[in-house]
Amino acid sequence: MPGNSFGHSFRITTFGESHGPAVGVVVDGCPPGIPLAEEDIQRELDRRRPGQSLIASARQETDAAEILSGVFEGVTTGTPIAVLVRNEDARSRDYAAIKDLFRPGHADYTYLAKYGVRDYRGGGRASARETIGRVAAGAIAKKLLGYEGVSVLGYTCQVGDVKMPTMERMTLEQVEASPVRCPDPETAAAMENLIKQVRSERDSIGSAVEIVARGVPAGLGEPVFDKLKADLAKALVSVPAVVGFEYGSGFAAVPSRGTQHNDPIIRRQTGSGGAPVIGTRTNNAGGMLGGISTGEPIVVRVALKPTASIPQPMETVDTQGNPQTIVTKGRHDPCLAPRFVPIGEAMVALVLADHLLRQRAIRGTE
Ligand SMILES: Cc1cc2nc3c(=O)[nH]c(=O)nc-3n(C[C@H](O)[C@H](O)[C@H](O)COP(=O)(O)O)c2cc1C
Repeated sequence: MPGNSFGHSFRITTFGESHGPAVGVVVDGCPPGIPLAEEDIQRELDRRRPGQSLIASARQETDAAEILSGVFEGVTTGTPIAVLVRNEDARSRDYAAIKDLFRPGHADYTYLAKYGVRDYRGGGRASARETIGRVAAGAIAKKLLGYEGVSVLGYTCQVGDVKMPTMERMTLEQVEASPVRCPDPETAAAMENLIKQVRSERDSIGSAVEIVARGVPAGLGEPVFDKLKADLAKALVSVPAVVGFEYGSGFAAVPSRGTQHNDPIIRRQTGSGGAPVIGTRTNNAGGMLGGISTGEPIVVRVALKPTASIPQPMETVDTQGNPQTIVTKGRHDPCLAPRFVPIGEAMVALVLADHLLRQRAIRGTE
């Protein structure tokens, strides 16, 4: 089976390449009757778009979303929703010189090894432009989740050695206030300076993003292979440049002890029918136990590698296997976290929308 689709009940299929005519997505399984306009999708695409600041790639794309199907008189119809975004600023000439070379850190060799043919322009299907389809679908998933009281917010929590201090709660406005998308202004400034410095040294830098989903009801996730944590990991690691995934305490759990790590269980309030609503005092579990949501915030983090394309000579070979030196040209983000934030949010929203619908299939709407 090819791997261009994701999800079961809320299922997406993305299509398109970096320098082809268009990229997009088909969303199947979205319930009918949800108000949906192109602006809902555009808002999220605008957050993902390149060319927004000095610290991001200068590729100029309007990334205008066209809804081709599945929406009638402003609401979803329950039929497949196709969203198309045309590529406009694809400068393929930047890539002609490297047509027969494999770029270090890119998927050039592996795509050729897999398919025997490759679209070398801008990374083809391996390009992050593919994530436009994910962000468009994620905007629809966020709309659906919004009606259920679920919100998803991501932010840059680390660039190089610069880490964000713990913040109890943050808003979208705080995140969007800085081009690095870090809600703590002091850390954001330090991150921005570091990215500018790295760029002036013709280099790139690694980073991390945290994504928090609030209002997720207890009970989402399908043991054993479609556990919520497993699907979140797959969703996020499938995004280009992601090299690590953790949830809750993550790798920080390694040196800790059970006495510190177990989250004490508390009664939060009384729910419908007098049933107790259970919560936890801390959230080392990241909102999931046994791969099922606990009702506490879902907290996940990803590590992003330093951007592969850097304007420095690098060792490689050509398609004939002859040693070569390559200097990547074109326009590239020196740090990927700021642009990853809306993509990561979209992937989390897609997983949650899918599992919400799957839970309804088991338990109804109750
Ligand atoms: C939002 C976003 C933007 C990206 N922009 C670039 C870029 O400008 N230059 C680059 O070399 N890689 C960029 N990447 C990463 C590459 O697409 C990715 O590293 C490459 O396709 C190889 O895939 P892998 O890192 O998942 O193995 C970007 C990734 C994301 C998520």
